[in-house]
Amino acid sequence: MWKSNDLRESFLEFFESRKHLRMPSFSLIPVNDPTLLLIGAGMAPLKPFFKGEEEPPSRRITTCQKCVRADDIERVGRTSRHHTFFEMLGNFSFGDYYKEEAITWSWEYMIEKLKLNPARMWVTIHTDDEEAFKIWKNMVGVPPDRIIRLEDNFWGPIGLTGPCGPCSELCYDRGEEWSCGRDDCKPGCDCDRYVEVWNLVFTGLNKNESGEYLPLPDKCIDTGLGFERLVMLMQDKKSPFETELFTPIINLLEEMCGKKPGGNFDISVKIVADHIRAIAFMLADGIGPSNEGRGYVLRRILRRAARLGKVLGTQTGYLSALVDPVVETMGGIYPELRERKDYIKTIVRQEENNFEKTLEQGSLFLAEKLDLLLKKGETILSGEEVFRLYDTCGFPWELTREMAAERGISIDLEGFNRLLEEQKERARADQESKLILKSCVSLNLKFASTEFVGHERMSVEAEVLEILMDGNMISEAQEGDIIDIFLDRTPFYGESGGQVGDTGIMEGLNGNPLRVEITDTIKTLDGLYIHRGKVISGKIMPGNKVMARVNEARRKEIMRHHSATHLLQAALREILGKHVSQAGSLVSHDYFRFDFSHYQALSADEITRIERMVNSMIQENQPIIITEMNYDDALKKGALAFFGDKYSQTVRVVEMGAYSRELCGGTHAASTGEIGCFKIISENAIAAGIRRIEAVAGMSAIEYFLKSVQILKNLSQDLKVNFEEIPSSIERLKAHLKESEKEMDALRKEISILRAYDILSSAREVGEAKFILAEVPGATQQIMREMGDRLKEKIKSGVIILASEVDGKASLLAMVTPDLIEKGLNAGKIISQISPLVDGKGGGRADMAQAGGKNPARLKDALKKAEEIIGGSFSQ
Ligand code: SER
Repeated sequence: MWKSNDLRESFLEFFESRKHLRMPSFSLIPVNDPTLLLIGAGMAPLKPFFKGEEEPPSRRITTCQKCVRADDIERVGRTSRHHTFFEMLGNFSFGDYYKEEAITWSWEYMIEKLKLNPARMWVTIHTDDEEAFKIWKNMVGVPPDRIIRLEDNFWGPIGLTGPCGPCSELCYDRGEEWSCGRDDCKPGCDCDRYVEVWNLVFTGLNKNESGEYLPLPDKCIDTGLGFERLVMLMQDKKSPFETELFTPIINLLEEMCGKKPGGNFDISVKIVADHIRAIAFMLADGIGPSNEGRGYVLRRILRRAARLGKVLGTQTGYLSALVDPVVETMGGIYPELRERKDYIKTIVRQEENNFEKTLEQGSLFLAEKLDLLLKKGETILSGEEVFRLYDTCGFPWELTREMAAERGISIDLEGFNRLLEEQKERARADQESKLILKSCVSLNLKFASTEFVGHERMSVEAEVLEILMDGNMISEAQEGDIIDIFLDRTPFYGESGGQVGDTGIMEGLNGNPLRVEITDTIKTLDGLYIHRGKVISGKIMPGNKVMARVNEARRKEIMRHHSATHLLQAALREILGKHVSQAGSLVSHDYFRFDFSHYQALSADEITRIERMVNSMIQENQPIIITEMNYDDALKKGALAFFGDKYSQTVRVVEMGAYSRELCGGTHAASTGEIGCFKIISENAIAAGIRRIEAVAGMSAIEYFLKSVQILKNLSQDLKVNFEEIPSSIERLKAHLKESEKEMDALRKEISILRAYDILSSAREVGEAKFILAEVPGATQQIMREMGDRLKEKIKSGVIILASEVDGKASLLAMVTPDLIEKGLNAGKIISQISPLVDGKGGGRADMAQAGGKNPARLKDALKKAEEIIGGSFSQ
């Protein structure tokens, strides 16, 4: 059987013997490539050689490249194809050999060297690639029915621009038993039957910044052979996780947490084994965990693994222990792992400790929530709270459930799952709309870009180039149709860089009654502008000349808000420190949000200082100057770049006096004075270490002040005091309310004692024990507990079941004295059996349990059932 190290070596030797220069893996950090966050393919570090910008050390190169991809992190562990860290074997030609050699050598390596069964091999090619078809069929001898044509077989570019071309893949059929069972299951299917092992890219094109695909100076070859998959095939394992690349990690992990077969255990173990490799390799290459850019990718992977560790039941420190098997397995090939092992372990340990603190904070938050629930006498923690803990503190729901159960409280898992689904749905919708946009490119549009004139003007005469309806090209649209319009040029800003898309109208020229209301504008990844709108009158078809007019008032408000985000970032860095950097934003016409890295909540004083500073920058009325320059020059001048964005070589630098200098493609006010006014509305955490400010500028800020003052006026009238006295007046009212609540609590107690005596007289006796089953209308859960406690004191031995209706909701309580628990009665079990009758859920301990329900009409039935259960157990 092939050992993984031998396999790697055999590939590199095979191509060395075909005159390739073997180069060591490049670092995971891209060099001079702002369009890439991390190296995610074997060809990525070689981009300048493909483009002819740099002379390669040899026209033929072979490598085994370290890669990290975090886009599909959710699928890791669930398929045999996804990894955050993986190795890619590749052979590359820069204007030397082309398709014929790439194809025949790949076959020779797989069949002659590795002795894979040719009858199990399939190949895919790009639909139109006749040349590849002929080579596979005539030179290699692959039967034509095993050469599949796929529209999708076009690779790249990686990042927004760069080399790309049609590709051809070698797939290995693992047999019927791996199939998803669909009739059309064949290479290209998403299941695990046909493993795509090797991708041969015939790199002949370069996609430039304007989205054009232009021929490269020389035709090139870029191949990528997925190493983990190859090892899986050659070792005949179900997935890469069963190969020696992962087993030492998995064995140690299982040793640490004890194997718990079933459920999600196996998947979680695989995820952790995958993640720890990515973590070790990223740290070895000098990427440190942080809240931005590639450091954030690392931190996310690390926290995910640490969190799973909690679910698996490991101790803190477990992740750093898992670094050892990674270094043992891979350190021979990648010496940087060995050299930096101690450093890697220290950082992982530190991050784990920090995460532990986040967990602690989450625990405190949860404890407060649980206290509150118990005080109110409720028994279920809402899905919203479980989700908030999960989303902002990275708190696994399993942990929340466990901690809540310790205090007799269950969690609304359904509600949590619904919110989680909604969040996923939002991400999916986002992904889908991106795919739709991408598909515009494959529509064979006859044009490659839209000229954007919206920095200088709000309206322009333009030609309609193409119209889409539901993603399909159409030749004409009528009144009422909702369509996507492409123009040759446009003043409409397309949603990008956080700034929302413009709205407005398009009107026919020369008496043409055409009128389209534009409700949104989207910019595709390729720089095309899509205007979405509804035809209000007339007809529209390609070739029409229109006047495209942006809703100017709205756009000006957007510009005010956008400029305000820059001033806000400047003020945050001034007041909180230079560690503040943008982590995302949304700029609209009536508000904006700005996400940034910072470790704690802002104090009221900090918020006021920031507001004062931004408003004084506005009053200084500095000109806002926009210049285009080279990306490197911009960075040298100290312009702030937002790492989530992809920048091309020429960038726009937006300067506001001496306060702010940022790279930005958005639209801005002409001077800071135009922003008018600024006010922060809220400040929250959205993730550990990431805060979000929501704020308003321009007219919206003025409106905000006016509305606030109106509220104060109304309050001062209601309270009959002047503005300044409102707070003290409210303090007095609160104190009064507290007094009254105290009195009410005392009264409630009195009442429950009196009622308890009443109920006691109705108790049924069986020997020493007393059974009390009673309806106590109007009693809250807290009162019911009080009554239960009183009754329990009185009866010494027995069972108490109380049922009540408050505000249209049902409540149930069960208590069992210790002697009867010994005889097999259990309050928790009784409640879980009777609560479904009132459409409720609940449980608790053996001595006390409570439940709420939606159907009070059936409280009597619930009591009856309780009687049966008790009677039943007692007669046993
Ligand atoms: N660039 C191609 C890929 O990553 C082949 O190396 O699949």
